[in-house]
Amino acid sequence: MAIGIDKIGFFTSPYYLDIVDLAHARNEEPNKFLIGIGQKKQSVIPPTQDVVTLAANAAEKILSTADKQQIDMIIFGTETGIDNSKSAAIYIQSLLGISNQARSFEIKQACYGGTAGLQMGVEHIRLHPDSKVLVLAADIARYGINTPGEVTQGGGAVAMLLAADPQILEIEDKRTFYSDNIMDFWRPLYRKDAVVDGHYSNEIYIDFFKRTWELYQQKYNRQLDDFSSLIFHLPYTKMGLKALRSIIDESNHPQTLLAQFEASRVYNALVGNLYTGSLYLSLISLLANSNQLAGGSLIGLFSYGSGAQGEFYSARISNRFDNKNLKREMTDLLANRQQLTIDQYQDMYRSALSLSNENQKFDLSNDSSDFVLAGRQDDQRL
Ligand code: CAA
Repeated sequence: MAIGIDKIGFFTSPYYLDIVDLAHARNEEPNKFLIGIGQKKQSVIPPTQDVVTLAANAAEKILSTADKQQIDMIIFGTETGIDNSKSAAIYIQSLLGISNQARSFEIKQACYGGTAGLQMGVEHIRLHPDSKVLVLAADIARYGINTPGEVTQGGGAVAMLLAADPQILEIEDKRTFYSDNIMDFWRPLYRKDAVVDGHYSNEIYIDFFKRTWELYQQKYNRQLDDFSSLIFHLPYTKMGLKALRSIIDESNHPQTLLAQFEASRVYNALVGNLYTGSLYLSLISLLANSNQLAGGSLIGLFSYGSGAQGEFYSARISNRFDNKNLKREMTDLLANRQQLTIDQYQDMYRSALSLSNENQKFDLSNDSSDFVLAGRQDDQRL
């Protein structure tokens, strides 16, 4: 029985910062950010959006009334949690009117949480083929104004409906893991911005990719030539290119893998990092922008979550997949964003919901998204 992604949706903020403006403001050569980092724009998340509203906006556009009745599991992968106890998945169940007879919970392992949710959902459907599982991967990537990580900020949500006989992607039962206790990137409870050892995190990412890829080749007797594309968790798009280059000989190798990689980073370069959702935004980018995918095409996916967990797994494009709607929806969403000046970005960055218990009310007139965060009252989200 084929199981996998039946529907996929994406949402990000209606605001963005141009990376060249950021380079000028930080006295950096623009090509360092455009080529060396591989980013063009960065979503700036207003205080009126948190991971719950981002994910609700992503999921609402893909779910039919029948889907909402059939979903019996909602898994929310995030590292930008809104409460130490209550999961973001419960809010999604209620905001979207999904069946109350669903098992709803949140999982965490840095940027790996989306993949953990996806694989858990696939295994649930293998045991219960009539089920549908909603997997959400939503985050807000923050490093701080005037830090080296600033150019790799971003945010948004990917919603995936998993089912048997899926229309988009069939997940194979072939995957390899590697985990170890590493302090490369983490987010202490008292702060909103990440703590990161940037260059070390790059090294660990490549190391975990190579380990899981080598384990995969040995375990399943497959080679690079078996794959039509390899896609990656993209904290910034050059990171995926560095990983791909670590295992291919560019002078020798089929240019298709590089061309497919270019298709898989189009949207990530315009949005920035969304931690748990980045690999799946890259998947959307490949699905919408590649002209080389066909039913049965084999894709390798590398998921990485700092701290650290790596997984390499494989999937095949469904024979029923058609990318026209996805491409149009993505183009509309990203073209209709409003550009911010550096001052506007910095003000918006600082206006995020505080970590204190103060009551806050946000001006909602600048955010016309379907789901918005109105503020906080008596320690509760509004
Ligand atoms: N033209 C073209 N390229 C240029 C250039 C120019 N004028 N000037 C510099 N470059 C290149 C450099 O050669 C370098 O390329 P390579 O990496 O291929 O060597 C690249 O631009 C970046 O330059 P630096 O390394 O000097 O940049 P930096 O010291 O300012 O920091 C960074 C870069 C470490 C990625 C930093 O942005 C950071 O800490 N980011 C956050 C952490 C991160 O994303 N880590 C990724 C792995 S961890 C993970 O994946 C989990 C997650 O989501 C966080």
